[in-house]
Amino acid sequence: MSGQRVVLGSRSAERAQSAANDLGFDVTGASNEDCAAQADLVIVAVPWDGHAELLQELAPALAGKIVVDCVNPLGFDKQGAFGLAVPEGSAAQQAAAILPDSRVVGAFHHISAVLLLDAAVDSIDTDVLVVGDDREATDLVQALASRIAGIRGVYAGRLRNCGQIEMFTANLISINRRYKAHSGIRVTDV
Ligand SMILES: NC(=O)c1ccc[n+]([C@@H]2O[C@H](COP(=O)([O-])OP(=O)(O)OC[C@H]3O[C@@H](n4cnc5c(N)ncnc54)[C@H](OP(=O)(O)O)[C@@H]3O)[C@@H](O)[C@H]2O)c1
Repeated sequence: MSGQRVVLGSRSAERAQSAANDLGFDVTGASNEDCAAQADLVIVAVPWDGHAELLQELAPALAGKIVVDCVNPLGFDKQGAFGLAVPEGSAAQQAAAILPDSRVVGAFHHISAVLLLDAAVDSIDTDVLVVGDDREATDLVQALASRIAGIRGVYAGRLRNCGQIEMFTANLISINRRYKAHSGIRVTDV
């Protein structure tokens, strides 16, 4: 991805390697533990259901690292997507509670995996909202987001303000369904 070295993690190292091969870039695959141990920065992108358990398992390997959480705690019913109540306030705050020795940042909640994977898409027209309490870490994640063509990383506040960013994904999913789109957001005047 944009010249970065990427290791794809999975609960199964074989599955990770196979998915990495399918991607066709210079991506390698490893178990989640090995992936966390190798990386300087780890992006957590698993369903909400497995979030807490996975982070508890990986906490020792994630100590000292920047952990970017993009998990959206959403439920789905006949009316579409809706936000779930999270005792800690948000998935990112839950991550920070489980990983006191990591530098947790919230980002990439609204980026469509479909667009990222589409070889015909050469630029994605959206901003990435980045939240966190560690200025050096949020700066780095903003820069990382901005390496994707079309995308800007925009600082959007402290980690305690991640809940509404996660919940807003439910609105974007409604927009996508109504307009058959992969919607994003742009912040004006910055
Ligand atoms: N899809 C998007 O466009 C998008 C965009 C922004 C944010 N997100 C957020 O990113 C997260 C992942 O979304 P996704 O669409 O990639 O979901 P997904 O395809 O269902 O899950 C991604 C991977 O997570 C692993 N996984 C599944 N259940 C798990 C569990 N209980 N514990 C640990 N690992 C588990 C699986 O890998 P293994 O089985 O190989 O371990 C799976 O391939 C969600 O929280 C979502 O809100 C998604």
